[in-house]
Amino acid sequence: MTAEILDGKKTSQKLLEELQEKVVNLPAKPVLAILLVGENPASQIYVNAKLKKAKSIGFETVFKQLPQNATQEEIISQIKLWNNDRKVNGILVQLPLPAGIDKNSVLNSIDPIKDVDGLTAYNSGLFYTGQAPYALPCTTRGILMLLKEYNIELKGKHAVVIGRSNLVGKPTAQALLFENATVTTCHSHTKNLESIIKTADIVVSAVGEKIVNGKILKNNCVVVDVGIFRTPDGKISGDVEFDSASQVASFISPVPGGVGPMTVIALMYNLLDLYLAQNIR
Ligand code: GUN
Repeated sequence: MTAEILDGKKTSQKLLEELQEKVVNLPAKPVLAILLVGENPASQIYVNAKLKKAKSIGFETVFKQLPQNATQEEIISQIKLWNNDRKVNGILVQLPLPAGIDKNSVLNSIDPIKDVDGLTAYNSGLFYTGQAPYALPCTTRGILMLLKEYNIELKGKHAVVIGRSNLVGKPTAQALLFENATVTTCHSHTKNLESIIKTADIVVSAVGEKIVNGKILKNNCVVVDVGIFRTPDGKISGDVEFDSASQVASFISPVPGGVGPMTVIALMYNLLDLYLAQNIR
């Protein structure tokens, strides 16, 4: 069989149009503030994509770039300025931060009601204990939106999440658990990874290495590829060997054009949620 494509590009465009309709009727434009520290080329591309998408929806954006050698205090001062600026509704600190900066201290300095990435300890705590956070991490929300668009049943399914980062693996595993999937989280120390993947109805891979292929997948499984990296010959690749996997799976997300655009549109929905939360207080 050949798998149906989980088309993140198409789905995100549809969700963008729905969001534009909601935003047009708001009394003011929601404002997204993005902080980039240093000059990581991939981060610069991602940040530009987020700013561009936000503007296309009708949001206002504020962008600040600090040098690679910015101190933690300088970074946190900038966040505090935005925390205290009533016009700013959502604050995003692009990751990774330069070595030597304590990521958690930086993220936790964001006012939770402006935490558009859902990465503060406050919002994580709410989320992992089954209470509604102000925002869910964007990749996780994007994956859920993509699976919903294709009516993928999660209840009772065995979901295998490969990767345990705070950004993707952990929140995605938790979200799938809330959807009543039976969830296994795998990581670099997992033994018999391939035999575990073989039992998965749903595979979410978020490691940044080519580790999934058709031979280790169960027939008709659903494959969500979160990985994105450049191969030595400069090509953009995901974690999944697309050609062999799509012969076995029932649904598969491509790279590019799968989870990437869904992460960006989820960020935009998060911003709207924060704006609404701030305007009913
Ligand atoms: N770097 C890679 N993905 C993300 C993301 O979703 N949010 C932030 N802040 N940084 C990232």
